[in-house]
Amino acid sequence: MSSYDSYQRDAEEAIRAAASLTQLEQVRVSWLGRKGILTTALRGIRELPEEERPDAGLKLQSIRSVIEQALEGRQQALKHVAIEEKVARERIDVTLPGRRLPPGAYHPTMRTLRRICAWFARYGFQEAQGPEVEDDYHNFEALNIPPLHPARAMHDTFYLSDGQLLRTHTSPVQIRAMAEHGAPIRIIAPGRVYRCDSDPTHSPMFHQVEGLCIEPGINMAHLKSVVTEFLQDFFEGREIEIRFRASYFPFTEPSAEVDVRHENSGWLEVMGCGMVHPNVLQSSDIDPLQHAGFAFGMGVERLAMLYYDIRDLRVMFANDLRFLSQFSGE
Ligand code: DAH
Repeated sequence: MSSYDSYQRDAEEAIRAAASLTQLEQVRVSWLGRKGILTTALRGIRELPEEERPDAGLKLQSIRSVIEQALEGRQQALKHVAIEEKVARERIDVTLPGRRLPPGAYHPTMRTLRRICAWFARYGFQEAQGPEVEDDYHNFEALNIPPLHPARAMHDTFYLSDGQLLRTHTSPVQIRAMAEHGAPIRIIAPGRVYRCDSDPTHSPMFHQVEGLCIEPGINMAHLKSVVTEFLQDFFEGREIEIRFRASYFPFTEPSAEVDVRHENSGWLEVMGCGMVHPNVLQSSDIDPLQHAGFAFGMGVERLAMLYYDIRDLRVMFANDLRFLSQFSGE
């Protein structure tokens, strides 16, 4: 009997000493598990002389329930401690400064494109869009560039296997807009264009903004004054020189290219323009005897490079954060 008394003391002591739920479980198994001390003792009752068995059984059962209660109590206490620790560990210091997300910013090309469109919007030019995957008719034919026309060779076109192509300029949007709205019309069409051409001053993808204005009585002087005003405002009063240089485009007659020079740069061509060719008006069912119009197509990267004094076209496409973050305040 006396050894049974020590069971209770030993078990209670082990339970008290268990410092974690895992240790407590080990204690439980060592006493109450299948091969545990108490389980073995209970099984041993069979070996006792018959008259001792009832007392031994009662005694061991009561020890068992004492141990079970002690285990239960200790388990609650340890769980409580664990929760306290977790809460202390996970406490949030609400006085810490928040993590700031660095604000995004428009790429210099997009900033430039948006500034261009905003300027023309003030003069009633509505924004128009066209597909980047174009067909021959809109990109060439309706712009007075029939098959075998030498101007096609200058376009370095990416052709797709189904006979379609990546538009080489935004001029096809003129055709789509005329077909949809007829004349009079004032539109501005920003977008990506593609040419099979890549070197330090040419990228296979770049941006243009196309403009088209068809109204009765429009002439070259209107074109010249709109373009000049635009460029002066675009460069925000900086000292720039602008020159219109006679040129050739199949879809305009007469045609000009516009060059800009500022401070330390040389002349840089920024757009082509001209009076819409009668054939182009006709192909869109607009009577050239009733209407006249001017059109222009400007290179967005070119204007951005002049405005921000960027010397190398390639940085515009490299997505180098050291370059881009210089524009983040804008
Ligand atoms: N589409 C021409 C190009 O990409 C630019 C151009 C010239 C557009 C004259 C025009 C224009 O609208 O009238 O080189």
